[in-house]
Parts: sequence; C-alpha cells; structure tokens
Amino acid sequence: MMTRRRANSGILATAAVAGVSAKGAPPMLEPRELPAPQTSGGMPLMAALKLRHSTREYSERSLREVTVSNLLWAAFGINRSSGDRTAPYWRHIMVIDVYVAMADGVWLYEPKAHALLPYLSSDIRAQTGTQDFVSTAPLNLIYVAHGERMQDIPPTDRRLYASVDTGFIGQNVYLFCASEGLVTVFRGAVDYQKLAGAMKLPDQQFVTFAQTVGYPRD
Ligand SMILES: Cc1cc2nc3c(=O)[nH]c(=O)nc-3n(C[C@H](O)[C@H](O)[C@H](O)COP(=O)(O)O)c2cc1C
Repeated sequence: MMTRRRANSGILATAAVAGVSAKGAPPMLEPRELPAPQTSGGMPLMAALKLRHSTREYSERSLREVTVSNLLWAAFGINRSSGDRTAPYWRHIMVIDVYVAMADGVWLYEPKAHALLPYLSSDIRAQTGTQDFVSTAPLNLIYVAHGERMQDIPPTDRRLYASVDTGFIGQNVYLFCASEGLVTVFRGAVDYQKLAGAMKLPDQQFVTFAQTVGYPRD
C-alpha cells in the first residue's frame, strides 16, 4: 500500500513536472510538503468568535511552518475522506485556489498533498493590495477563482459565487487567527488588474479577495 508520504511525493513530483509555475517564471523553488496539520485543540468556538476582528498593523515576524500548515488546513484543507473541505463550496465544483504570497515567493496550496507548490519566486506582497501593511506583513493569502469552471453561468454570477466561496474561507482564517493569537484582515482593496498581471493569471482566472495574516505589531 502506498504511504501518505509516498502518495504526496507523487503529487508533488507531478505538479513540478506539470509546471505549476507561471509561464516564463524563473527556475522554480522546490515544492514544500507541510507538516501534518494539528487538527485538534485550539480555542473553544465561542471564545474565538469573541476575539474575531480585523487588524491593519502587523509585525514583520514570519510565521512558523507549522502555523502556516495549520492556517491553510483551517482555511480550505481537506477534512473528510471524500476530499471535501473545511469550507463549503458552490455546486461541489472546486472553483477557488488559495495562493500564499510570502517574502520568498508565491505558493499554491495543494490540499491533497497538504503542500505548497512553487508558483513564483518573486516577492509580490506589495502588489496584493493597496494598503501599506501588505508589503511587510509576513503572509498574504490570494484567493483565485477558476472562471472556466463556471462556464454555464454569466460572468457576474461567477464573481458572486466565487466571492461567497471565498468569504467562507476568509471566516475560517479569521477564527483560526483568533484562536492562535494571530491577526488578519480580509481585503477587497486590491488593484485586481495589477495583481492578475503580477501573478500571470490565465484569462479565465480572477482574484476574488486577498487576506493578510501575521502577528500583531508590538
Ligand atoms: C468583502 C470585504 C472586503 C473587505 N475589504 C477590506 C479592505 O480592502 N481593507 C481593509 O482594511 N478591510 C477590509 N475588510 C474588513 C472590514 O473593513 C472589516 O471586517 C469591518 O470594518 C468590520 O471590522 P471587524 O472585522 O474588525 O469586525 C473587508 C471585509 C469584507 C467582508
């Protein structure tokens, strides 16, 4: 029987060969298998809800790998053997990808392998939003929708459903951050054209929102 790690390395190898990186991107970073998420513990739900809030002042301190792992699992990881996720999604069609912009580049969260696949090797944090803190906060999530998977509905509806899917993920991130002493803000103040350009997104894909995560400024 194939172990989870072997299965994962298969996915990672395939992803690397398939060129998950943007067209024309410089030589790739290696895929990063994340530590297994810690899916027990944390704060009681009602306590986390009491603490949930948006923050616009961040420390530059980077997040530990285990924290990134837990964050991404909470955001939109797989929580059942069916492969379904911690957030609900439209028509059971996987429309949203979660990208992670950090100082060392942009990574695509791959929930099956629970890994980060290299996407861009440049620091585009400053381009993930129009507010100053985005360039120095350690991590910005970028939510990208696959419009080509929503062909049978009009473009305005595509944005609507993709935004709703994203909102559920965003709230998972808020609650995780509240529970872990991290801070976050869900963001629509994004220059969408500029960010799509920086990410070299294919025509049919579009950014719905972004979300900054980090530690509070001291
Ligand atoms: C769809 C949406 C877009 C948002 N966009 C931004 C944004 O671009 N920048 C920002 O600082 N906050 C943004 N926020 C956060 C709201 O300003 C914030 O949730 C609201 O002021 C209430 O504050 P609280 O989250 O601390 O309760 C957004 C929230 C939502 C739901």
